[in-house]
Amino acid sequence: MSLLLLLWCGVAVAEPDRRHDEHSYAEPTRVRTKDLALELKVDFAAKRLAGTATLVVEWLDPAAQQLVLDTRDLQITRVDASSDGQTWKRVKFAVGKRDRIVGSKLTIEAARATQVRVSYRTSPMASGLQWMSAKLTANGKQPFLFSQSQAIHARSWIPLQDTPGVRFTYSARIRTPKTVVALMSADNDPAVVRDGDFSFRMTEPVPSYLLALAVGDLAFKPISPRSGVWAEPSVLERAVYEFGDIEKMIVVVEGLYGPYRWGRYDLLILPASFPYGGMENPRLSFMTPTVLVGDRSLVGILAHELAHSWSGNLVTNASWKDLWLNEGVTTYVENRVIEAVYGRELAEIENVLTQRSLLEKLKTSPPARQRLRAVATPGLGPDDLSDVAYDKGQWFLQALEVRFGRATFDAFLRKWFERNAFTSVTTDDFVASLRSDLFPKKPGAITDAELTAWLDGEGIPKTAPVAASARLRAVDDIRMRWLAGTAKLEPATLAPWSTQERVHFLEELPETLPEAQLVELDRALALTGTKNGELAQRWYPLTIRSGYRLTRPAIIAFVERVGRRKLIMPIYRALVATPEGLAFAKRTFARVRTNYHPMTIASVQEVLVEASRPRKKRLEKD
Ligand code: BES
Ligand code: ZN
Repeated sequence: MSLLLLLWCGVAVAEPDRRHDEHSYAEPTRVRTKDLALELKVDFAAKRLAGTATLVVEWLDPAAQQLVLDTRDLQITRVDASSDGQTWKRVKFAVGKRDRIVGSKLTIEAARATQVRVSYRTSPMASGLQWMSAKLTANGKQPFLFSQSQAIHARSWIPLQDTPGVRFTYSARIRTPKTVVALMSADNDPAVVRDGDFSFRMTEPVPSYLLALAVGDLAFKPISPRSGVWAEPSVLERAVYEFGDIEKMIVVVEGLYGPYRWGRYDLLILPASFPYGGMENPRLSFMTPTVLVGDRSLVGILAHELAHSWSGNLVTNASWKDLWLNEGVTTYVENRVIEAVYGRELAEIENVLTQRSLLEKLKTSPPARQRLRAVATPGLGPDDLSDVAYDKGQWFLQALEVRFGRATFDAFLRKWFERNAFTSVTTDDFVASLRSDLFPKKPGAITDAELTAWLDGEGIPKTAPVAASARLRAVDDIRMRWLAGTAKLEPATLAPWSTQERVHFLEELPETLPEAQLVELDRALALTGTKNGELAQRWYPLTIRSGYRLTRPAIIAFVERVGRRKLIMPIYRALVATPEGLAFAKRTFARVRTNYHPMTIASVQEVLVEASRPRKKRLEKD
């Protein structure tokens, strides 16, 4: 109300509420970062980055004197300020109490200086960095370091305004041992030399969560003039094959939504402990090696990270409440790319899988977490990938596409990207664009009630378009006959099945199966020991729930090698359901945790601790 009043009076006001970021201490309406210059030394022995971060800031609020930054577990040694870049003056600063989720507020008495230089070092336990000894890498020769800044981990390796509502350009000088290569989400040089001194520049303004660094024994191979793969040498060829369609994909998205605005588009293959499937670091998407299955069946992840070059990196959610504007729009574009490059049938198969698994997850998710236009939940961090932002977001856009027609909707999205390029946006901005640019094209095509149901409602609106696939129906048919005992699983019938068909067969099996059926299934689909994580994350939990122990050695081998959370958490969750499984999970975790990223360690620990609490206490809490 007061906000409306202020707007109405024509007074310059703070940004509307929805832009406010609950996960940052920064005060971007008062002072804003314009540029960041990093000078860091990479110390593998001490597991630390040490050096300086120099921020160029613009003071917006005439009354502001202090610069407030986000940090987590940083040791700040001094802060200097300057307004001409020549004379620097040491200034006072204070580091606030550490909050479990958002870290510590750094308040600098900057007195309106336009440049502020923070000297600091990171903690060996920095939440946004994984330090790996040589023996944990593919090659086993050089140590490896990588960052994962999204959602709020940039603050664990750089003191900054760690909110997606603030964008800035950056440059960096990174010193390393001479045996390794450093790469960033910036202008990497394919012909780099290992001289221990690397310089980078990102000339487009980006939000903090897109700052990224990787250091290791990395080699480059081109795929097209503007893209290629960085990986440890022993992984390089496999990756070049798997991602061979990258140029085709770029051309598809450009045709739909306008030019690729970032120059080069390269990929970096991380060690298997990378906690995500992929991360859209600008100019250099980070990718899990678990997609390298040899048949390009999991390249949806590639299409996804590429699509973020438009939805997310170009047009960014202003706060994590509006994550669907990054992830939902991207998941929609991902599917369009799959359709254009691999055909309508595969795209529709993926839609069926997505819709079914979303509906299943919604059955058990709290109502407040089922909304696209989300509200921040106190005490909850923004790191858990919610299927709602991804899959409900995608479904919403598919519904709009059906109602308005593809050509009209494509033109709308293209304009959305063009008009908002290099800015941060909210769901309210999206709604305003729908009302001004899309709805008038076909008045009445969607009602206000439907729009509200999609954005603020729980579940999925009844009128949502439902995907269907004949190939998956054939899989359903075989599954049903097999379960009824009227058909055997013939390896010859199943051999041509794609990853997606196999996944679908597994997804809709009963909670448990008798041993004889598990053995038959394992033989037909070669599941135990599979390199395909999408199968492993479904097969192993099924065997665990069924009390079938013969897969245990393969389970250990899988969770030892792979640290991607989405793939291993279902296994840990299935294990902790019984006392025996819990004991096994604890033993295994104690052995393999040194391989994991700090975030993966935290996730597994949470599941183990929760399962170890006395049953009565747990029930009281729930
Ligand atoms: N940007 C996300 C990863 C992310 C989201 C990290 C939120 C931290 C907070 C990335 O683009 C992503 O969505 N990765 C997915 C793969 C995708 C194909 C669904 C993943 O890692 O599973
Ligand atoms: Zn994504």
